[in-house]
Amino acid sequence: MAELENVIVCDHPLVQHKVTLLRDKNTGSKEFRELVHEISMFMCYEATRDLPLKEVQIQTPLGELANSKVISGRKVAFVPIMRGGLGMVDGALALVPTAKVGHVGIYRDKQNGNTATDYYCKLPFDIANREVIVLDLMLATGVSAVKTIDIVKKAGAANIKFMCVLTCPDGVNALHKAHPDVEIICGAVDKGLNEELYIVPGIGDGGDRLFGTK
Ligand code: URA
Repeated sequence: MAELENVIVCDHPLVQHKVTLLRDKNTGSKEFRELVHEISMFMCYEATRDLPLKEVQIQTPLGELANSKVISGRKVAFVPIMRGGLGMVDGALALVPTAKVGHVGIYRDKQNGNTATDYYCKLPFDIANREVIVLDLMLATGVSAVKTIDIVKKAGAANIKFMCVLTCPDGVNALHKAHPDVEIICGAVDKGLNEELYIVPGIGDGGDRLFGTK
């Protein structure tokens, strides 16, 4: 497959190992949730790689250090798309505990897979001043992701990334066509979509596997 632009695949062996366990149909909900948590931590490490640093002066037990680095400037907001993105929040917060969390509820319309309906939105009031990382388990058709980023941009956010465990070329292309500025961080880019618009080989229905609803 050709390299996809503006997509970071976390190819670290630990992430790839955990994505394989996640794909396995015999992995139960408890382990699935734990894996999503761990993979989200690793991906968040990549997603926050370009946070700006500033130098500070500190006193170590053995002396003074004039140019030690701490994160400065923009703060972070995570915006999980319900339901799948909810499973990624705690992993992301483990790395950036001071981040605020907004929520967007959205579902792809059954009759027409090319449209989505949003039914819930609660975002941090200062989202415009934050580095926003939208979270969803899967970037499949891209319909929900595009609409969520429309909503987040309308609220003032300008620096947005999209973090998902799995995607495919259809999702990447749809998201980048609508929002070319949004970088995608993922665990793997799969082959494509089946007739029911599931990613193949994929993980099946991520929300159901996460919450044991099937
Ligand atoms: N949502 C899922 O849960 N799984 C897919 O494969 C695609 C979208």
